[in-house]
Amino acid sequence: MRIRRSLIDLDDLSAEDIREIFARTAAFEREPENASLAGRVCANMFFEQSTRTFTSFNIAEQRLGMHVVNLSPKEMSLSGKGETIEDTAITLGAMGVDAIVMRHPEAGFPARIAGAFDGHVINAGDGANAHPTQALLDIYTLLEEFGELGGRTVAIVGDVLHSRVAHSTIRGLHRLGASVVLIGPECFLPGDYADDGVRVERDLDAAIPTLDAIILLRIQRERFAAMPLSDEEYVAAYQLGERRLGRLRESTVVMHPGPYNRGMELDDSVLAFAGWRYAKQVRHGVAIRMAVLDVLING
Ligand code: NCD
Repeated sequence: MRIRRSLIDLDDLSAEDIREIFARTAAFEREPENASLAGRVCANMFFEQSTRTFTSFNIAEQRLGMHVVNLSPKEMSLSGKGETIEDTAITLGAMGVDAIVMRHPEAGFPARIAGAFDGHVINAGDGANAHPTQALLDIYTLLEEFGELGGRTVAIVGDVLHSRVAHSTIRGLHRLGASVVLIGPECFLPGDYADDGVRVERDLDAAIPTLDAIILLRIQRERFAAMPLSDEEYVAAYQLGERRLGRLRESTVVMHPGPYNRGMELDDSVLAFAGWRYAKQVRHGVAIRMAVLDVLING
């Protein structure tokens, strides 16, 4: 394994590294209480709202036996006293913090702290850039469903432009051989995404019968000033609801990184759909984060 000290995006992982993380994920799911990091210290620094990722990392760290410190921005000298991120990293390292899990609205922030910190940094989402552990848990959920991803077509639908989840998931799916189709309006999915070896589609209805899996995305309204098209236009063209569910293949699964907005990218019929895998994604998230921490720290 060529795994690095920190996990900033899926570029840091080869296909072999990803498979190693998935093997450990499966082992942690079989045996969730596993103190393989007993006595190690993890600091969670979340500068942006989070329910799933924050809780999931906390549970993962505690199951591994780590000491957990949760820092929120208002408690940090970084915010009010002019301390730089680099000096914050030096300070935490001197106290014996082994790992920092960081979420930040600015793209590149976790990479900066990784450059200054002597331990391990895990990116828990930076701006619209990357969210590697979410991508890993999404791909793990797909592998559980399909065994292999070669020959499978996975669609990512909606606001791809502003979605760090999509940016990381596209890389991982590509690396594991899935065929990726991105579906959305020009304002949320510029045509040049097709350069990354993925297909860009505008017409969800045309693509629907060809898909093995659909990953829906929330419109990231906090990342742009004005909605470029009306909610009604978006819903008419891209919402997954009863009519479109009826045109899916019987084996197609539907996923969402959460939080999902009922009435926008999906309606209630999706939540009752047999192929809806959201709860499985969330469940796998804990063991994925245990595996990432274990691989980075224990090697
Ligand atoms: C996402 C995020 O914060 O990037 N959620 C998550 O971590 N599961 C997606 C979103 O906010 O839409």
